[in-house]
Amino acid sequence: MGLNLCVLASGSGSNLKAIVNAHKTGKLSSRVVLVISNNSASGAMQTAKKNHIPSIHLSAKLFVDQASFDKEFLSLLKKFKVDLIVLAGYMKMISPAVTKKFKNKIINIHPALLPAFGGKGMYGMNVHEAVIEAKVKITGATVHFVNDVYDNGAVIVQKEVRVKPGDDAETLKRRVLRTEHKLYPEAIKLFEENRVILRSNKVYIKEDK
Ligand code: GRF
Repeated sequence: MGLNLCVLASGSGSNLKAIVNAHKTGKLSSRVVLVISNNSASGAMQTAKKNHIPSIHLSAKLFVDQASFDKEFLSLLKKFKVDLIVLAGYMKMISPAVTKKFKNKIINIHPALLPAFGGKGMYGMNVHEAVIEAKVKITGATVHFVNDVYDNGAVIVQKEVRVKPGDDAETLKRRVLRTEHKLYPEAIKLFEENRVILRSNKVYIKEDK
């Protein structure tokens, strides 16, 4: 059964585009019903508009306090009947009020093989620069659950990407992104098919029927 997805994005929104395209081409029944961005000028907001998806600029700065921000956030998720929150390059923390209401219903994509190259400061180009500097041969992408502890949510799926001789952070980022664009819709498909089981903060994937 298709799920109603809310994508949260701050940046270029290429993962959002990949998810929207996966629905358009029939690879996903789930569809993006709402895009929320803390950045009104983000590529993600433009993609949403181009695809006639409701998009809302929501920034904590626009609210008197965190509680009123959370209230608005939660009421939007309710209004759009959101089943799964999909973080795609969202640069803000999700507050406990939301993680509590959407327990095990929030996922994120990270451009490396977590737990490697994750944690504090590991976002954007920092991740790929750290991978190049460490001279590792394999990196990749990870889709994981989001809970209250930063980068501690269980890993759902991962895909490896080879670091080629001569790669720099920029070429690596591009290749990892291409993998992300395949992996994220695949991960969402697992939720759509109800195949993701979480036990003791570890994910098990049910077999395909
Ligand atoms: C991706 O590399 C993702 O792994 C990370 O942020 C980046 C977002 O890229 N969390 P885009 O905005 O989807 O192009």
